[in-house]
Amino acid sequence: RVTRHYKFNIEMKNVRRLCQTKSIVTVNGQFPGPRIIAREGDRLLIKVVNHVKYNVTLHWHGVRQLRSGWADGPAYITQCPIQTGQSYVYNFTVTGQRGTLFWHAHISWLRATLYGPIVILPKRHASYPFPQPFKEVPMIFGEWWKADTEKIINQALQTGAAPNISDAFTINGLPGPLYNCSAKDTFKLKVKPGKTYLLRMINAALNDELFFSIANHTLTVVETDAVYVKPIKTKVVLITPGQTTNVLLKAKHKSPNASFLIAARPYATGPASFDNTTTAGVLEYEQPNNANKNKKLPLLKPALPKFNDTNFAMQFSKKIRSLATAKFPAKVPRKVDRRFFFTVGLGLSPCPQNQTCQGPNNTMLAASINNVSFAQPNIALLQAHFFNKSKGVYTTDFPANPPFKFNYTGTPPSNIMVSSGTRAVALPFNASVEVVMQDTSIIGAESHPLHLHGFNFFVVGQGFGNFDPSKDPAKFNLVDPAERNTVGVPSGGWVAIRFLADNPGAWFMHCHLEVHTSWGLKMAWIVNDGKGPKQKLPPPPSDLPKC
Ligand code: C2O
Repeated sequence: RVTRHYKFNIEMKNVRRLCQTKSIVTVNGQFPGPRIIAREGDRLLIKVVNHVKYNVTLHWHGVRQLRSGWADGPAYITQCPIQTGQSYVYNFTVTGQRGTLFWHAHISWLRATLYGPIVILPKRHASYPFPQPFKEVPMIFGEWWKADTEKIINQALQTGAAPNISDAFTINGLPGPLYNCSAKDTFKLKVKPGKTYLLRMINAALNDELFFSIANHTLTVVETDAVYVKPIKTKVVLITPGQTTNVLLKAKHKSPNASFLIAARPYATGPASFDNTTTAGVLEYEQPNNANKNKKLPLLKPALPKFNDTNFAMQFSKKIRSLATAKFPAKVPRKVDRRFFFTVGLGLSPCPQNQTCQGPNNTMLAASINNVSFAQPNIALLQAHFFNKSKGVYTTDFPANPPFKFNYTGTPPSNIMVSSGTRAVALPFNASVEVVMQDTSIIGAESHPLHLHGFNFFVVGQGFGNFDPSKDPAKFNLVDPAERNTVGVPSGGWVAIRFLADNPGAWFMHCHLEVHTSWGLKMAWIVNDGKGPKQKLPPPPSDLPKC
């Protein structure tokens, strides 16, 4: 077994974007952060040293962390933060996974600038289930604010108002030519005629799902969330925060007399204003030797769907299917031990006494699952669970169903106040779980990219309108559903997922729109140890940070 060592120094760095210089939190002074490369089966030891004034944790998004929950990273769920001057070694093995994932900070809004790709190659001598690409290119989408993002979210949480939207989207940290003074900050992809490229796309943006396209080129989706899929040919890819998508790009056989815009901009249906700008890169071909190199080629632009095209979003999501071959089987749980119906959406919470709040009628904007807005504990759930000290930290009475019934896609209930609590669901080891997630449409019908830590799940069904328990389950796909770690709960609709709780620990589930996580759209699963020796969570490492 190969062990790979990384050292991540968390340090401030001045970075200039959109004509302004700003001091941002980085890993090793790099933005975006360093790329982690491993092979399936490798062990990773990543030493994180915190040199900044903020508390920090890092999360290895989509890495299953089989019995290594202490290395998962969400603050106050699996660990206390790494404080200024302290360090922590994330120690885990990448088991049974290969593909594109990413790492990011998992505390407050630090992931605005603390993120980078994780590339997991197949085992040595194992090949891809698609033609070997000539080159592989990570493309990580982000979001840039001119102002300090920690100030933005802290102020929003104090006043109850919505936080300011970003000033730009970025591809590998670069906004591109459609923004002011950013022409030189443009992602460029140079290709050789006739060759095939694997684009490893990651959406690390804080608050926006993105449509992506390249002018005059068709893309073939071959993997989502580090799971191979049946190839899908498409002009446009939808990628939500927390999702990763590998596509093959076939360069035309002859160098065309044009270059091509690579563009991404939001898919958004919610009530909030959003950053409706476009980040762009440029695809260029190597020109033959006798070509006039100074000739400026015309730049062709791609067509993207309308920003609120929910039909496109639903159709795209439904097209994604597991390979489901003998070599890459889809292990969909057939029976269900525990069933849940979760409403996900926005709401309001009361204004603290002696304060004025900027939400509607002096309230604060909030978000919830089954009307519970998750309150952050002050020690990590996993520590409390492991040492049998849950009393006063969390309860295991998270509701399996919402406390009210209404037409989730129609008139909201008169009372849209949420309740607050640190409530989890306790699951026995190896329970097979089904969760139907319904967008409440309270305050606005909106797609919520729900992300589950510690597991991949199967997307067995999805639809618009209200989930119908008497009709919809009969149509569930138990043969080749997409297997992923993040799925959009459709705007004005529902999605059904299944997973096997075979990983003991405390596992976060939340909307990967960071503003919704901040407002409480999150909960936790506590998976108890099984009886066998390989079914228990080992004790924490000695350097696990203390609160
Ligand atoms: Cu990518 Cu809980 O996060």
